[in-house]
Amino acid sequence: EIYRSTTTAPVNIAVIKYWGKRDPKLNLPTNSSLSVTLSQADLRTLTTASCSPTYPTGDTLLINGQSQDVSGARTQACFHALRELRKDIEYEKPEVPRLSHFPLHIVSENNFPTAAGLASSAAGFAALVRAIADLYELPTDPTELSRIARQGSGSACRSLFGGYVGWERGTRMDGKDSMAFQVAPASHWPDMRALILVVSAAKKGVSSTTGMQTTVATSTLFPMRPKEVVPRRMKEMAKAITDKDFETFAKVTMMDSNSFHASCLDTYPPIFYLNDVSRAAIKAVEVINAAAGKIIAAYTFDAGPNAVIYYLAEHEAAIAGLFKAILGDKDGWENERGAAIQANAA
Ligand code: DP6
Repeated sequence: EIYRSTTTAPVNIAVIKYWGKRDPKLNLPTNSSLSVTLSQADLRTLTTASCSPTYPTGDTLLINGQSQDVSGARTQACFHALRELRKDIEYEKPEVPRLSHFPLHIVSENNFPTAAGLASSAAGFAALVRAIADLYELPTDPTELSRIARQGSGSACRSLFGGYVGWERGTRMDGKDSMAFQVAPASHWPDMRALILVVSAAKKGVSSTTGMQTTVATSTLFPMRPKEVVPRRMKEMAKAITDKDFETFAKVTMMDSNSFHASCLDTYPPIFYLNDVSRAAIKAVEVINAAAGKIIAAYTFDAGPNAVIYYLAEHEAAIAGLFKAILGDKDGWENERGAAIQANAA
């Protein structure tokens, strides 16, 4: 007999960046962060978790058809936490099948390029955790699941909620208060749009996990972020979202992306995620905002060169037109989906 459950999880793109761990083992961040969830029609991970007494010994994980090493501490932490919760149920209800003892098979597929700095680990671990939680018939409180997904990949905790999502850094040593929360549902500000410019679908140079700890260890600019920059911006951003104040939302988004990439450059040895096309995208946003006489577009970049442009639906034609004109005829697009992926807040 095979027990099976399938789920999906969305991609989220941070507007206040998570960068730095205060506890690498529990994956506890040095600062809080905030993201916008993107529509799953465009970007999502689809994951099936199954288990069976007939499976050969050992858990397995397949991502986009490729077998992954599951022995890593992150994946193990998620499997372990979920199995422990299932064991509680099996202890209380002896009649239920002892799924916690069976090998797990996880099959995961992204509809976007993996490891392109598109937060694939976020959607990936969120879907993995939810799929196993469903399989084990665990209570699916997203707050509880976000604590588990956080241990897989920090940004994953934000993909268990929709809309505008914060991740509270927490202060406890055991990480119990480090979890995601919803700032506002997508319906609160439904005309938010994102345009993802896939500058390169190639795997990124320095992984975020390695990069952020080198920044914490070496950058002299970085300590300002957890100390004062991010706490202030978390408040400004939450208020901008509540007030649907796009100009503030956009300005804080761009400044926080710049601050994060400045910390990367200030890391020794330096980390460069932006390339010439990324910088052209920044310039283009500046040009369009200057032409509009107000801020109608915001750029942000994660640990890779791909730009994410946030804007409101009313400016769709202007934004899409501009980026087509500026970037569309450049060589070197490696994404078979085309030059850009458009997504709604969801
Ligand atoms: C730049 O969540 O990938 O995208 O916790 O080590 O897995 P780990 O890091 P990860 O880092 C994401 C960094 C970022 C900013 C963000 O998403 O907040």
